[in-house]
Amino acid sequence: MLGNFCYHNPTKVYFGKNAVQNLAEELAHYGKTVQFVYGGGSIKRNGIYDEVVSILRACGKKIVEDGGVMPNPTVEKLYEGAKLARENGVDLILAVGGGSVCDYSKAVSVSAYCEGDPWKKYYLDFEEPTCKIIPVACILTMVGTGSEMNGGAVITNHKEKLKIGHVFGDEVMPKFTILDPTYTFTVPKRQMVAGIYDAFNHICEQYFSGEDDNVSDYLAEGLMRSLIVSSRVALQDPQNYEARSNIMWAATWALNTLIAQGKDTDWEVHMLGQAVGALTDATHGMTLSAVSLAYYRHILPYGVKRFRRFAVEVWGVKDEGSDEAVALAGLDAMEKWMKELGLAMNLAQLGVTADMTEALADATLVMDGGYKVLTREEIVQIFKESL
Ligand code: NZQ
Ligand code: ZN
Repeated sequence: MLGNFCYHNPTKVYFGKNAVQNLAEELAHYGKTVQFVYGGGSIKRNGIYDEVVSILRACGKKIVEDGGVMPNPTVEKLYEGAKLARENGVDLILAVGGGSVCDYSKAVSVSAYCEGDPWKKYYLDFEEPTCKIIPVACILTMVGTGSEMNGGAVITNHKEKLKIGHVFGDEVMPKFTILDPTYTFTVPKRQMVAGIYDAFNHICEQYFSGEDDNVSDYLAEGLMRSLIVSSRVALQDPQNYEARSNIMWAATWALNTLIAQGKDTDWEVHMLGQAVGALTDATHGMTLSAVSLAYYRHILPYGVKRFRRFAVEVWGVKDEGSDEAVALAGLDAMEKWMKELGLAMNLAQLGVTADMTEALADATLVMDGGYKVLTREEIVQIFKESL
């Protein structure tokens, strides 16, 4: 491991069945007014809404409801939520939902008292917050993004055709997070597999960078192996607690800063996927699966040793033959698994047409931490190959 770093993750995690029992004790640390953020209504159908409201009431909290957060939360919704938080003098933002609800809550936390336009400040100019920040806590109901234990907050601006993430610091990360795997049992299978692939790809984004011997890569391999095993169990038996709990915990560790330590990290698959998201509003994990193979096969020659290691350590490919042959066999094994899960394997499935590739390239940010810094021509080529 050659990089220097400071590691600190301030998010306290309560994990397991009935973990929500810890909510009351945590709420005691915050003032009276709670902005209760949730999505399109799944928590009303599965009973989580009633459970959380009764705890909030028993704790004497004033509830400011903020429902209707859409998947891929929009900048317009962010403005509304920031106004609501400011006008009500909210003391805590409680996010109950998936990554969209958690991301939105973090974005609101730094926007309520922001001087000027938060979209411009945080998402176009990538400035750090200078205003008062409202504390955020999460109760996660859909696994994949890692938002429950990180500072990321992705916001979509359809008018500007941009979907951008800002990774905020410690003061924006959730103060506490409640992870009950049974809360994820009602997630539709399509969302479950999208979340599994999102988590898997977060690990890839960090793993496919650097050449030094780094403990982060061994941790990454273990997390990937666990996700592959548990995803296959959960696919056959979605109510399998052991598998769903492993997936939940692996996804949290996939993107809570640990395995990025000492790494450059890539994130180009996410940049390609976010461009697709900005233009189509497709499910995040599916935007990643649709572009991943074309991207990884394209950059393989530039990082062939790491792709060989991925094939052997993660996919169990025999360590025999040329680097290229072993590395390609690893990606073939990954493709087989992705098809098993039923992920989107091309962009056409997400509504992308050939005439959109230039616009997609316009919306793609270029990262420089991976094995190859893409040129615009390469980006267009990868989108074409993904069609
Ligand atoms: O809105 P409701 O009705 O709750 O339904 C949601 C939504 O339709 C549903 N759902 C969630 N929990 C459920 C459930 N349905 C039944 N039972 C439950 N228990 O699932 C659908 C998708 O939810 P969403 O929150 O949009 O999914 P996800 O967790 O994948 O979050 C996606 C967002 O996170 C961003 C993505 O870009 C996207 O905007 N990301 C955030 C990251 C971060 N903070 O670090 C990193 C990721 O790479 C990602 O970019
Ligand atoms: Zn992701």
